[in-house]
Amino acid sequence: MAASTRTFEDVKKSVLSCHSDSSAEEKATFYNSWARNYEQDVAVLEFRAPSQAGDMVSSHFPGDREAAVVLDVACGTGLVAKQMKKHGFARFFGTDGSTGMLELAKETGLYQDLSQCMLGKESLPVKWGQFDVVVICGALSVGQVPVRVVRELCRATKPGGYICMTVRSNQSNLEYKAALDSELRQMEEEGLWERVKVTEVENWERGVSAQEEGYISGCVYLYRSLPPV
Ligand SMILES: C[S@@+](CC[C@H](N)C(=O)[O-])C[C@H]1O[C@@H](n2cnc3c(N)ncnc32)[C@H](O)[C@@H]1O
Repeated sequence: MAASTRTFEDVKKSVLSCHSDSSAEEKATFYNSWARNYEQDVAVLEFRAPSQAGDMVSSHFPGDREAAVVLDVACGTGLVAKQMKKHGFARFFGTDGSTGMLELAKETGLYQDLSQCMLGKESLPVKWGQFDVVVICGALSVGQVPVRVVRELCRATKPGGYICMTVRSNQSNLEYKAALDSELRQMEEEGLWERVKVTEVENWERGVSAQEEGYISGCVYLYRSLPPV
């Protein structure tokens, strides 16, 4: 990647131009226009969620990494696959709502298949029960992927497979996170999956809003899908 010429103020302006109450189409348009600057901008924000997710899966996945089939949901430009490749994973499928982000993901050459899908409006474009690992990173937040989609992540996973999710815990996402936590617990009670590990991370990324000076916190979840009873 070329050295960043973008300042924190430039990045802040870009990110704040996308409002949480914008429509799915507006969000996709925003990401289409951000795609070429995305990786250098999130480096400026010190966005570490893709490496946190990669480390979390790597620390707990017991199987053959080269053979494991990984679904990267809301894959963006492919940062999660790049991280997981460092840990020995090799077979990636990706999906995202933004064609601009998907073009960049394709350029990585890491994905066997990439598909466009606006989650919440359309269901995950995969066969259920096919994946050893499903990851969603940076997309579970207010105005992006609705909480109910986590059920589809679980359905896409093989019994015994792993689901890794990241979420911001900053003020503007707290209501969303509370709804997510409640859905995750409910799914545990229904016997759909079990919680493997949850890690709260203090210095998740640099905050961009006036109320979020310094770093905002975040959380990485790992669940294991259970066979139907
Ligand atoms: C912050 S980026 C994260 C990308 C990548 N996972 C990463 O960690 O770098 C959020 C991604 O989620 C996608 N996204 C947001 N809402 C979506 C939705 N409802 N359906 C599908 N993709 C969505 C965006 O297009 C964008 O690529």
